[in-house]
Amino acid sequence: MKNIVQLLFLILILPAVSLAQTLQSPNGNFVATFDIQSDGTPTYSLSYKGKTVIKPSKMGLELKNDSLSLLNGFEMMKVDMNTFDETWKPVWGEVASIRNHYKEMAVTLRQKATNRQLIIRFRLFDDGLGFRYEFPEQPNLIYFTIKEERTQFAMTGDHTAFWIPGDYDTQEYDYTESKLSEIRGLFAGAVTSNASQMQFSPTGVQTALMMKTADGIYINLHEAALINYSCMSLNLDDKNMVFESWLTPDANGDKGLMQAPCTSPWRTIIVSDDARDIVASKMTYNLNEPCKIKNTDWIKPTKYMGVWWEMITGKSSWSYTNDYPSVRLGVTDFTKAKPNGTHGGNNAHVRQVIDFAAKNGFDAVLVEGWNIGWEDWFGHNKDFVFDFITPYPDFDLPALNDYAHSKGIKLIMHHETSGAIRNYERHIDTAYQLMKKYGYDAVKSGYVGNILPLGEHHYSQYVNNHYLYCIQKAVDYKIMVNAHEAVRPTGLARTYPNMIGNESARGTEFQAFGGSKPNHVTILPFTRLLGGPMDYTPGIFEMDISKINPANSSHANTTIANQLALYLTMYSPLQMAADFPEHYERYADAFQFIKDVAVDWQDSKYLEAEPGDYITVARKAKKTGQWFLGSVNGNDARTATIPLSFLEPGKTYIATIYSDTKATDYKTNPQAYAIRKVVATSQSKLLQYCAAAGGFAVSFVEADKDKVKGLEKL
Ligand code: NOJ
Ligand code: CA
Repeated sequence: MKNIVQLLFLILILPAVSLAQTLQSPNGNFVATFDIQSDGTPTYSLSYKGKTVIKPSKMGLELKNDSLSLLNGFEMMKVDMNTFDETWKPVWGEVASIRNHYKEMAVTLRQKATNRQLIIRFRLFDDGLGFRYEFPEQPNLIYFTIKEERTQFAMTGDHTAFWIPGDYDTQEYDYTESKLSEIRGLFAGAVTSNASQMQFSPTGVQTALMMKTADGIYINLHEAALINYSCMSLNLDDKNMVFESWLTPDANGDKGLMQAPCTSPWRTIIVSDDARDIVASKMTYNLNEPCKIKNTDWIKPTKYMGVWWEMITGKSSWSYTNDYPSVRLGVTDFTKAKPNGTHGGNNAHVRQVIDFAAKNGFDAVLVEGWNIGWEDWFGHNKDFVFDFITPYPDFDLPALNDYAHSKGIKLIMHHETSGAIRNYERHIDTAYQLMKKYGYDAVKSGYVGNILPLGEHHYSQYVNNHYLYCIQKAVDYKIMVNAHEAVRPTGLARTYPNMIGNESARGTEFQAFGGSKPNHVTILPFTRLLGGPMDYTPGIFEMDISKINPANSSHANTTIANQLALYLTMYSPLQMAADFPEHYERYADAFQFIKDVAVDWQDSKYLEAEPGDYITVARKAKKTGQWFLGSVNGNDARTATIPLSFLEPGKTYIATIYSDTKATDYKTNPQAYAIRKVVATSQSKLLQYCAAAGGFAVSFVEADKDKVKGLEKL
């Protein structure tokens, strides 16, 4: 036996240019193949159920001031195979435990001319492939600068894609659904915001990129564990249908300052012939390191309200005054400033929202515009705007926290950095200390506008390191972080579960900035949500924004039932009820669902899923075991057929169904909904009409058989 192993080892260490290496997934559905071309260029390919999904694709990196780079001239030195199988318990999540099961192949390559080593590590799961570059410690590769990563993803055809334009500074786009070959033609039209920040090719798209092949295979390209590296977009060669990685540059145009030993993030390819497997995939989390926080008791799923939507809709202001400048000139005595009369974050109003949130069982209230600096920012002075510790004179920070705590409510802190990351780093300790002093345990941070230092971009290595620095520092203070406009998440919340949310995509705020596409929320779970939860801020009950602010003619393209369903379909341990108390009072029976719905789950079953069309998921609450169901619908009305077989056999439930009606129309009649109570068992089938951009939400309560008399049976 030993001889055979030695013999095999010898065969493997011989330069084996033509000896392709293959790896099979645990269930055998996937085969990944690694090979080296005659010029020593590494390649990989992937098949699923016998069909090619990624054609032979080149791998490697172009280095700055290094003519050979790490592109070719390689030989295979050795191949290490491994199997891994563990089950881990996330601190919060869609499910109580996650299986991390893969076959691994680590290929050690040597670049003959330079004697440099590069390891390419593949992990093949039952839901797809992850691979990354590893740069071991070695004399001939110590410091190096990445000019471009040259990882290819060669498609087998002109697939349908759900894409947003490649951009180094915003992810807040509506998705375009098109053939790959149509991206170029549709590109300019897709760039609806921050157009001046568009930097690259007219066939460049962001990840997570969702695709569907003509024969019904779903392919998702993204990355996992983006740490100390720049974020990847994809540039399409639309003659050959080959994507290539395109990293975010720093202010010098460089794409990564590296010091071996180090690694790239994982490049991920999630594949299935059943779209439900894509939204349920935990591969992105599995490719991240286990939790680094020892005691996680302080990390708590949270349902919150806010003093927020009123600023977003333009009804009130973040700023207390329109006087400018303030902080820059050391003016912190705001009692001398002239109030503008529209400041949202004032004592009386914050107390009202605390009262309403407490009465209705919420955990927390977010207050934006509590601190000085907004007047400076709007006065176009950027760097010295916020100190994150000085409240406006009408926001009594200690008293409001005391008041909130007396009612069982936590206040959520807000740190709008205005993109001035060094300024934030300078103040972060005192800012977090202030939070701890008064009992805040969560912060929403934000990175609106151009990054300072000038020339840096939101998703470059340097700025990605900043986001992680804030998360790590927050661990020291036991603070949960929800960063808006930060880089799209890549499963890092497994390692740092205090990262309870992110925005990093087009959220509900855009319903007040002109509206989002009616099927937007049927796409996000296939794209943005694969990397981690989104602070989408659902719960909008008033779609005509001009009723809130006559100067804002925006319309929210959604229905009340759709808004309720989002608490299920947009999984997050942090869920907001974003609308105003008075709107919830007006539709108190529909609001009941938001009060009832859980935010942490023991189990989740995706019952239907099709990107752009619909998503239906049932989830079982972690604490109570109660089942809830949510379904969101795309551009066309439909009737869903949902077997309730996830319910426990033999038990009887009262299902309260919140749905659209035949009269509901997301444009003209979005507030029409129906609520009905029916008897359901695991044998029942729910037939439910959904309006375009609509949906339905259901809560299930176990009931004695004799208590359900008179109720309609499903
Ligand atoms: C953009 C964020 O997405 C939004 O939620 C926040 O209110 C504003 N920035 C101000 O910080
Ligand atoms: Ca935003």
